[in-house]
Amino acid sequence: MYYPDEIIEEVRSRNDIVDVIGGYVHLKKSGSNYFGLCPFHSEKSPSFSVSGIKQIYYCFGCGVGGNVVSFIMNYENCSFQEALKILADRAGIKLPEADYSEEAKKKATERERLYAINKEAASFYYKLLRSPEGAVGFRYFNDRKLTKDTMQKFGLGYAGQSSAVCKWLKSKGFTDKELMRSGLVNFDEKRGMMDKFWNRVMFPIMDTSNRVIGFGGRVMGDGKPKYLNSPESPIFDKGKNLYGLNIARRTRKGYMIACEGYMDVISMHQAGFTEAVASLGTAFTPDHARILKRYTDDVRLTYDSDEAGVKAALRAIPILKSAGISARIIHLEPYKDPDEFIKNLGAEEFQKRIDSAENSLMFELHVMQKEYNLGDPDGRTRFEEAMAKRLAEISSELERGNYIEAAAAEYMISSDVLKRAVESAVLRSEGVAAAPVRTRTTIKKDKNEDGVIKAEKLLLTYITDNEAIYDAVKPYLSAEDFSGGICKMVAELLWKQMEENAMNPAAIVSHFVEVDEQREVAEIFNTKLDEGLSKQEKTRALTELVIKIKKASLSRITGEAANPLEQMVREKRIMEKLQRIQITL
Ligand code: UTP
Ligand code: MN
Repeated sequence: MYYPDEIIEEVRSRNDIVDVIGGYVHLKKSGSNYFGLCPFHSEKSPSFSVSGIKQIYYCFGCGVGGNVVSFIMNYENCSFQEALKILADRAGIKLPEADYSEEAKKKATERERLYAINKEAASFYYKLLRSPEGAVGFRYFNDRKLTKDTMQKFGLGYAGQSSAVCKWLKSKGFTDKELMRSGLVNFDEKRGMMDKFWNRVMFPIMDTSNRVIGFGGRVMGDGKPKYLNSPESPIFDKGKNLYGLNIARRTRKGYMIACEGYMDVISMHQAGFTEAVASLGTAFTPDHARILKRYTDDVRLTYDSDEAGVKAALRAIPILKSAGISARIIHLEPYKDPDEFIKNLGAEEFQKRIDSAENSLMFELHVMQKEYNLGDPDGRTRFEEAMAKRLAEISSELERGNYIEAAAAEYMISSDVLKRAVESAVLRSEGVAAAPVRTRTTIKKDKNEDGVIKAEKLLLTYITDNEAIYDAVKPYLSAEDFSGGICKMVAELLWKQMEENAMNPAAIVSHFVEVDEQREVAEIFNTKLDEGLSKQEKTRALTELVIKIKKASLSRITGEAANPLEQMVREKRIMEKLQRIQITL
């Protein structure tokens, strides 16, 4: 579905960016902008800014930026069309109807088609589970103590005999190419297109907007592989989606539970722990942590109690920490996973385990301790040294002190002795940190050229911050004077808007299609200006900027002369022109 520019602009302008982003990020006013913690990278102090005047956002930390539409695209991980739909609904604007004729279907974007195909497949599997052919799957879930209600809530299904879904989807008008792209079918030289999933119980994976983005399918017995998962696709990024989050995001418990499997999430939800999510068939990623951070800063990990589960938990802890989330470990012994635990000991016992979840650092020390023989003095010494080294990594002195006390009590060491050991470990590590650090070298472009572009960006920010500056600059500079690329395009659009008395930076962002370009435009309008300049200093700074830009422009026009004398004459002419520039505010 493609929409005319006027409709896009209407949707954009009727969704105030401060209101919209304020619904996702806690914003505080500071000067003429609003600031908050960036939802796209981990940070402790706010560098994410939203401008009500410019109607754009920009993060000084990680450089994301754009207008309200690109914010929704970034945040909801969705396409332009989807973002527009969300914002149109929000503002009560009716978008032109998408009509699902065969013709219109073909024109719809690839992503929309993938959502449609997954939705169709999910409803096929769902119905099959509840039909005579699916009885075997239904019995399987029954045996695993899932209620009908739970099966419905998670949209569980059954994939029947080979090629059933394939045929069904084709009858619904999906092309071979689309079928292949969805990951629901495999291609075999001899037999052609075949269902990827067959004779398996099916778990649809949904995103936070409840759209089906992929599937997990489990064998009903001991076959291999136990679970088959949809491959990644333009709508399914395993590192950015968590199973169950579409429901868990609404929890009010103040914490969330992260586990490993489909069945664990489902069992926990059935037992009332609707705050559980799983990272599926993949390790916990920084993106997972960032997504969880939108909802909570307290995550309890309940990974399998085997060696692989402990390793996975140890890897997840620092990832959660660096997203600003405190991690704790729920112990399940003597059971293997939450599903088994709840089946055997029930919800009440599980709640107790949640409440007594272990602090992640104490968990790390416990795991570490298993590598040493504490009965042997040498083993004990080496463990204590390793522990001191780990404790030395804690950067907050207060926190470090508290952990020293806790660890000393736990392992029955004198806290003074442990404290001294930690202190000397801190000194050793500071020695390491003080060693010269190699800094990143960047390839230097023509320095002068960089300076001109910088000046152009500064000027564009100045103008959008204060429209009066445009009138002061206009007599000397036109958009033609900009050196090229995205800056020049932005200048052309801005100059045109200013002439029409309708400055609108967010509409300039809309003008660019690629998210990366939109980000760059937002950056151009958010160049860091020197603060607290007096009027006189500002006038001088602006005059210098204009001279720099004009000089580069005039030099481009004049070009290089063939002989030095001619060159001098040309430069003199340029200098004379530049001397006439005097900005007055
Ligand atoms: P587990 O092997 O611990 O299975 O895998 P489980 O969750 O306890 O499953 P049940 O209870 O036997 O049904 C944990 C998770 O790892 C992924 C799945 O997401 C699974 O839920 N996994 C496991 C796969 O993707 N493929 C596999 O073959 C196995
Ligand atoms: Mn299990």
